Amino acid sequence: MTEEQKQPRPANAAAGSYAFGSFDENQKELDRLKQQAAASETLERNILARAGLKAGMNVLDMACGPGVVSCLMARMVGDGRVTGVDLSADLLNEARAAAASAGLGNVRFEQANVYELDQAPGQVPGQFDFVYARFLFQHLEFPEKALAAALKVLKPGGVLAILDIDDDWLTLYPEPETFTSFTRRAAEAQQSRGGDRHIGRKLGTLLTRNGFAEVGVAVDTVTSADLGMKNFLDITTGFKLEQLTDREKLLGAAEEAEIRKLADDPEAWGFAAVFVATGRKP
Ligand SMILES: C[S@@+](CC[C@H](N)C(=O)[O-])C[C@H]1O[C@@H](n2cnc3c(N)ncnc32)[C@H](O)[C@@H]1O
Repeated sequence: MTEEQKQPRPANAAAGSYAFGSFDENQKELDRLKQQAAASETLERNILARAGLKAGMNVLDMACGPGVVSCLMARMVGDGRVTGVDLSADLLNEARAAAASAGLGNVRFEQANVYELDQAPGQVPGQFDFVYARFLFQHLEFPEKALAAALKVLKPGGVLAILDIDDDWLTLYPEPETFTSFTRRAAEAQQSRGGDRHIGRKLGTLLTRNGFAEVGVAVDTVTSADLGMKNFLDITTGFKLEQLTDREKLLGAAEEAEIRKLADDPEAWGFAAVFVATGRKP
């Protein structure tokens, strides 16, 4: 079997490097997504408020995953409303269950492709005040196409906010010997599926080149002191193994296990940055 056959493009190529359902450990990845969204609620609230999210707004969560942040935004907009869209029917069911158990009546979830937002059920051009895309753009093969789709569904004057990572802003101390090779291996694998683990630095330029005005980029930091080292490693390295081919996974798992030893080192420290780019529809 060739390497290509072992790691085919996802059945739905629109999913780029994130096709939930095709992972070896989908439940583990779902838990990681929830953990990642819940671990940083205060930071998330601050980021959203700074980006311009306000009570009364009509909001779109582009690629909402299990809906943890859609529900947070539903609480923040009060009498406004939130629509979460995603490709994955399983993640949308998780999101609906989360909203129901939180008793939120102002959030709904629809299956849609972020490249074709205006064609999704209930989406009409020019209706949203605020569109949020969190940890989506690192997975997209065609980021410009998603920006064009977001521009279409925003009202004039509405804001797009994108939160994402950049691998060069992940630091561990002491640095495990396998850190550089594991990080590079996972980044190359994600790139082979259309993703980009250096998207953070490019977001401002992408927004400016694709018709957004008043573009700004802020960098927020998260450390292992905020989350605990185990949590920090789960969130920052947990997904990377899923990107590797079967052959690479053996070596990758050994490399990752070396990195994970930091969870037992009381002196270890980790730092990651998230990039938050905002732009306004003229
Ligand atoms: C890393 S998850 C982030 C989920 C959520 N925004 C969060 O922060 O927890 C990436 C999400 O993008 C979704 N996705 C990837 N490509 C998509 C596309 N073309 N249209 C809609 N959703 C997509 C995946 O199904 C997944 O839920």
